[in-house]
Amino acid sequence: MKSTDKPRTYRVKSFGCQMNVYDGERMGELLEAKGIAPAREDEDADLVVLNTCHIREKATEKVYSDVGRIEKAGRLAGKTPMIAVAGCVAQAEGEEIMKRAPGVGMVVGPQAYHRLGDMVDRAALGERSTDTDMPENAKFAELPSRGTRSPTAFLTVQEGCDKFCTYCVVPYTRGAEISRPFTELVDEAKRLVDQGAREITLLGQNVNAWSGEDAIGHAQGLDGLIRAIAKLPSLERIRYTTSHPNDFTDGLVRCHGEEEKLMPFLHLPVQSGSDRVLKAMNRSHTAESYLHLLDRVRAARPDIALSGDFIVGFPGETDADFEETLKLVDTVGYAQAFSFKYSPRPGTPAAAMDSQIPREVMDERLQRLQAALNRDQLAFNEASIGRACDVLVERKGKLSGQWLGKSPWLQSVHFTAEAAIGDMVRVELVEAGANSLGARASEPVSAQSTSSR
Ligand code: SAH
Ligand code: SF4
Ligand code: F3S
Repeated sequence: MKSTDKPRTYRVKSFGCQMNVYDGERMGELLEAKGIAPAREDEDADLVVLNTCHIREKATEKVYSDVGRIEKAGRLAGKTPMIAVAGCVAQAEGEEIMKRAPGVGMVVGPQAYHRLGDMVDRAALGERSTDTDMPENAKFAELPSRGTRSPTAFLTVQEGCDKFCTYCVVPYTRGAEISRPFTELVDEAKRLVDQGAREITLLGQNVNAWSGEDAIGHAQGLDGLIRAIAKLPSLERIRYTTSHPNDFTDGLVRCHGEEEKLMPFLHLPVQSGSDRVLKAMNRSHTAESYLHLLDRVRAARPDIALSGDFIVGFPGETDADFEETLKLVDTVGYAQAFSFKYSPRPGTPAAAMDSQIPREVMDERLQRLQAALNRDQLAFNEASIGRACDVLVERKGKLSGQWLGKSPWLQSVHFTAEAAIGDMVRVELVEAGANSLGARASEPVSAQSTSSR
């Protein structure tokens, strides 16, 4: 095909956070509603959507090299695939990409992708287009209704960020904080459950900043939304991510103690254990206020598994600051965590700060931090041995008869038994590694066939 033929098959390649995964799935649904089918292999696709992430370095370079690779694969297959760049790099660098990469026919930002279908039509007429508008909530109303084939589903409830941490691009690429309306979300959750989802993860860049009004006009926070969605009978599990310490209400803390379907897992990024660094990051919480919040959540739900994000080597971070981070890690005992080297992002205040930290120092700090986090993750998994819990089966394992799923504490669990994807299987956890646990199945507590589909 030529790049201007109407595409018959597509591939969406999503990078970055779960919100990009959600957006990628929705772009796929939109293209399928236009009669464009998923391609079996990357090389077969007539249209490739690169759904990009801008959070750390080399994001833009990666787009150019991915575009080059797609063009080359196309040449080898004797065609010129249409290429769309979507996501956060599209929002931040869209014009530049259009100038530098003539093979890119479409640039579409995270708030504008509901218009991707029209852009594809125009590309088929040879017209290149860019859309990085940020119309509030418009895309959700215009997207086709949800389809899911998985027992676990993502549901974006909130977008954008008003926090302006000094290192972060998200407020620029995703725009201001907005919340999707309550009834629209309950309806979307219901559709997901009707199609077989048994676990829903509510998503937002600051998901606990979600606010809205319920059907009778009462103001609700994220806890109210969770309680409403928990009423869907066939839904068994609710999770949410990512939350910010400053938006954590008492109601949400109580919800962890009271709502059985809300899983005992909390991802609450802290970034640093040093108050001096937190202030320079504009995080507006202290190490102590963060620890105090975790104490309250633990009091409400004693078995809660905790997770966090960390940045090492923020400008001006001293050895003493870094030791404070290690101390905080020891105090919390995380079940899992993500840790990153600070990466200067163009246009953010931290990129212009003095005393950027040399790479070797960052490398060394990251290694020490990750050793501590890995140690705690293994300890958390080992302490789970002997626990009985439900595992929601997500896919087949490598061995015959083996199944993979997640425990309530978001641990990956494998076991061998009669089961199917979507089953909730009662197991006993019997062995632990750093990244997964082995289990022995008891009996299926609620097989797929008894659910509502
Ligand atoms: N909204 C969430 C997370 C957003 S981005 C929050 O406020 O915590 C996910 C993680 O990427 C952040 O928690 C942070 O740890 C990391 N991150 C963001 N910008 C970064 C940068 N410039 N360099 C390194 N890590 C960064
Ligand atoms: Fe980025 Fe901070 Fe907003 Fe999280 S809260 S998305 S780290 S600016
Ligand atoms: Fe990346 Fe954008 Fe998510 S920058 S982390 S894809 S909000």
